[in-house]
Amino acid sequence: MKGFDWGVRRPAASVEDLRAEARRRIPRALFDYVDRGSYGEQTLRANRRDLDRLLLRQRVLVDVSKRQLGTTLLGEPVALPMALAPVGLCGLMHRDGEILACRAAQAAGIPFTLSTLSIGSVEDVAAAVEKPFWFQLYMWRDRGVTRALIERAIAAKCSALVVTVDLQALAQRHADIRNGLTVPPRVTLRNALETALRPGWALGVLRGKRRTFGNLAGLVPEAGDGVNGLTRWSNGQFDPGLGWSDLEWIRGVWPGPLIVKGILDPDDAERAAGAGAAAIVVSNHGGRQLDGTCSSIAALPRVRDRVGDRVELLVDGGIRSGQDVMRGLANGARACMIGRAYVYGLAAGGQAGVARAIRMMGRELDVSMALCGRRRIADIGPDQLMVN
Ligand code: GLV
Repeated sequence: MKGFDWGVRRPAASVEDLRAEARRRIPRALFDYVDRGSYGEQTLRANRRDLDRLLLRQRVLVDVSKRQLGTTLLGEPVALPMALAPVGLCGLMHRDGEILACRAAQAAGIPFTLSTLSIGSVEDVAAAVEKPFWFQLYMWRDRGVTRALIERAIAAKCSALVVTVDLQALAQRHADIRNGLTVPPRVTLRNALETALRPGWALGVLRGKRRTFGNLAGLVPEAGDGVNGLTRWSNGQFDPGLGWSDLEWIRGVWPGPLIVKGILDPDDAERAAGAGAAAIVVSNHGGRQLDGTCSSIAALPRVRDRVGDRVELLVDGGIRSGQDVMRGLANGARACMIGRAYVYGLAAGGQAGVARAIRMMGRELDVSMALCGRRRIADIGPDQLMVN
């Protein structure tokens, strides 16, 4: 695989190896954008810490010669209990990053979610892939733009709308400020040097067709097509006035399944279920929004107890291995969303890197199921965890 086959570096054995390779291959500002969290990063750390604390229950002498990792999400079969989370700027991590990630997900039989803040547009991705994908929506203050995005997702035959509800104000990511993150990266002495040290990345991305927000370009005449204008526009468009009636408004425009992403509290989960969500993503936005709140894996059982019989639950935040996927399922998720784990693969090696991340996690899950005496995904429940 590109980036790994030179015989110089050791092959990636884990998502952590892909992360290390991504760090070498892309400019620091982009790596930090993916890797880091908000403020003091307490919640970012909690996501990992709380996953690590959940101990898997080993069981032996069970016939596990036939194991099945498939399940369904929103009634559709999936090969693994995983989905790719929406992540902005993927097209800068690797040229055509969104298309490549979507292709890798579809080849692996799992859903891909395109971020509103992607570089490749919903039409670009739809034209380049075989099957429908999910579209993530920010509810902008400008409902005309929001409606236009939903209509484009309908026209592109997206199969679910993932509405992010935990970005009603943008939390500060200290690393982005220190790095002066702009899109595309501004040419300063430091990042000129970084670019020179990363010729593979530069040759790919900087020669790519798109370097602005593909879904927004052309949609907001006053902001222009350039990325700086659109960043300024979008930063002023996250809507602190968002309320439950807005979900109803979306339901009036979007005819397909609705996934509400960014819920931690059971009361909010109850409202989302009542508002017609088919699924909820229990999430703290990967530790990138409210710092000081709980990990998403810790929030999950309470949400499961309240609404688990009515809506499908997904969880994200710190999922880096098949063992983590198992922990998510044990705590009540039907599937885990992975964000950083696949973006490390994308930055490290394009489509093959994403495929590798998914494959590694799938194999880890498969072996862990064997070692825990579980044959099917549906067998993984709360009794999968050791009570300590
Ligand atoms: C946007 O959703 C981000 O977390 O950067």
